[in-house]
Amino acid sequence: MDSLIINGGVKLKGEVKVSGAKNACLPMFAAALLTSQKCILRNVPNLSDVRFMAEIVGALGAKVENVAEGVWEITAKKISHVAPYELVRKMRASICVLGPLTGRLKKAEVSLPGGCVIGARPVDLHIKGLKALGCDVKIDAGYIKVDAHKMRGGQLYLGGRFGSTVTGTANVLMAAVLAPGLTMIENAACEPEIEDLCNMLVSMGAKIGGIGSPMLSIEGVKALHGTEHTVIPDRIEAGTWIIAALATRGKITVKGALKRHLGSLLDLLERANCKIEYKGNDTVCVDASRLKLRPMEAVTLPYPGFPTDLQAQLCALMTMADGISIVTERIYPERFMHVPELSRMGAEISREGPSAIIVGNTKLSGAPVMASDLRASAALVIAALAAKGRTKIQRIYHLDRGYDSMDKKLRRLGADVLRVRDE
Ligand code: EPZ
Repeated sequence: MDSLIINGGVKLKGEVKVSGAKNACLPMFAAALLTSQKCILRNVPNLSDVRFMAEIVGALGAKVENVAEGVWEITAKKISHVAPYELVRKMRASICVLGPLTGRLKKAEVSLPGGCVIGARPVDLHIKGLKALGCDVKIDAGYIKVDAHKMRGGQLYLGGRFGSTVTGTANVLMAAVLAPGLTMIENAACEPEIEDLCNMLVSMGAKIGGIGSPMLSIEGVKALHGTEHTVIPDRIEAGTWIIAALATRGKITVKGALKRHLGSLLDLLERANCKIEYKGNDTVCVDASRLKLRPMEAVTLPYPGFPTDLQAQLCALMTMADGISIVTERIYPERFMHVPELSRMGAEISREGPSAIIVGNTKLSGAPVMASDLRASAALVIAALAAKGRTKIQRIYHLDRGYDSMDKKLRRLGADVLRVRDE
């Protein structure tokens, strides 16, 4: 296993380019199962989750090739309808094959994904959505078994007690595009990653209205054809760099940070007295050299609200604000694995139910810490960059799931970071 050794106190300086969006491209690998023709995906980030999704789609029978940097070709001529536990259990996002298998083969058997450290990861809304399309769905021996021979368009509300579901929307969408008749999905996820998936499906011949809105209408078609699609930049990576620059009082330019994807973060940071300037639509300049960070309150919400995937990173930053901040997690109320590790670095954060109460003006100090999940790891990196002294972050395979070459990008911004192999 690898670790990151970070000597903190260096102000990040320079330019960083955001890679393609993990949470856009993962369902796109699954979407390629909807046709027997070749799909080409460009600007795909080099992540372990991507390689894993490629392995799953390959195991289902598709020909999957990484033909050049960031370019993948997927041709699903003949595919199986069974996604086994051994594969699905390793990555939650693999549940995204459920919709395409249902749409293309009119049957599917997909293992229930396990939970994970950020909380239970139910799929009741995925199942509710497929049932609303006339599918017969049952859970048997840990598998979701779907018989979709009577599938047709349907009207459904896809919100749950935590709001919309991103991969749930992806699954219902990818079944509905091949379901005869009209489907209306109310309270669909509006995340940019779902918008990008819709655009890919439309380029494959799907008929989708309301793209980017919480009300999607889908007119089923008989078959879809191949396509070439370029994945949008990763707004969570972009937000992570912006927060890292603020935490180190640095001055960086983030290329590929689409302004319209970061509205909630920019609003929140402006309230905290951060000066962030946009050049065009996809370049943001952060100058935190004279920043006096004000404390604030933040609540995670479905898009366009403040994203849960930036919550941990924000907690790390707010330890440096001039007062007490409150960060409330409304999507995964238990998503605070980063708190005990940040406390090891001197942070004073207490939990009140779904909220973290963060004491500011903390002088973080380097310490050995353990990564636990993808975004908690990013929070530890941010804290380590700002801390006095040396931090060793173990199990950074969590980081590799969602950040393409983070240590290399950090070194290019001047950080004192080394990736080491643990005995
Ligand atoms: C996606 O997960 C992302 N992953 C997550 O990013 C992200 O945190 C999450 O959306 C929320 O934005 C991918 O896109 C691959 P949900 P997903 O279904 O789709 C509840 C990262 O760090 N829910 O939108 O699995 C659920 O428990 C990862 O990149 C139900 O109750 O999340 C949660 O509280 C982590 N029933 C809320 O809805 C369901 O059937 C949102 O979940 C489905 C979800």
